Amino acid sequence: TKIAIFASGTGSNYDAIVEATKNGRLDAVVALLVCDKPNAKVVEKANENGTPTFVFDPKQYRNKQMFEAKLVEVLQEETIDWIVLAGYMRLIGDTLLQPFEGKIINIHPSLLPSFPGLDAIGQAFEAGVKVSGVTIHYVDEGMDTGKIIAQQAVNLNENMTRAELQKAIQQVEHKLYPATLQKLITRGGE
Ligand code: GRF
Repeated sequence: TKIAIFASGTGSNYDAIVEATKNGRLDAVVALLVCDKPNAKVVEKANENGTPTFVFDPKQYRNKQMFEAKLVEVLQEETIDWIVLAGYMRLIGDTLLQPFEGKIINIHPSLLPSFPGLDAIGQAFEAGVKVSGVTIHYVDEGMDTGKIIAQQAVNLNENMTRAELQKAIQQVEHKLYPATLQKLITRGGE
């Protein structure tokens, strides 16, 4: 099974998934890293690991349709089975959704449908909720709206700081994403 990870930032989930493929918890190959931010940390990590990359600057294309058509070409050339979004900070459009229907998943740092969109951890923290968590879901045209695949709760303990919440959420993400991918891959999707 070949997966492409799409990321725009640090890539801690990229790291966790690559690690899982190396230690046998995930029967897949990270065959491609797609990144829309040429200077992102995750690109350096991929280069160090030897993960093939497709790094692009959306500004070099006329519109989303144009760069997504290019992405489809690259993904099909690499015979990618699953697209795994890990901090890819863009909505996926029709051009990419259609050929990969049911094969694109995302991780979001809240219990959806609470706190979709940007800075979900900050939103949860400000709202003063006692429980937040992590959601893995199929991607559709909306913002964090697709069918939910897996969720795990994280408690906000008394006096917990925003940074501590972020750390707790990331720790859950790094286990839940590889484990959920393994389930999806072995059952071939839903
Ligand atoms: C994660 O918190 C993920 O839930 C969100 O973006 C963040 C990406 O972090 N969608 P990283 O780049 O994997 O460290």
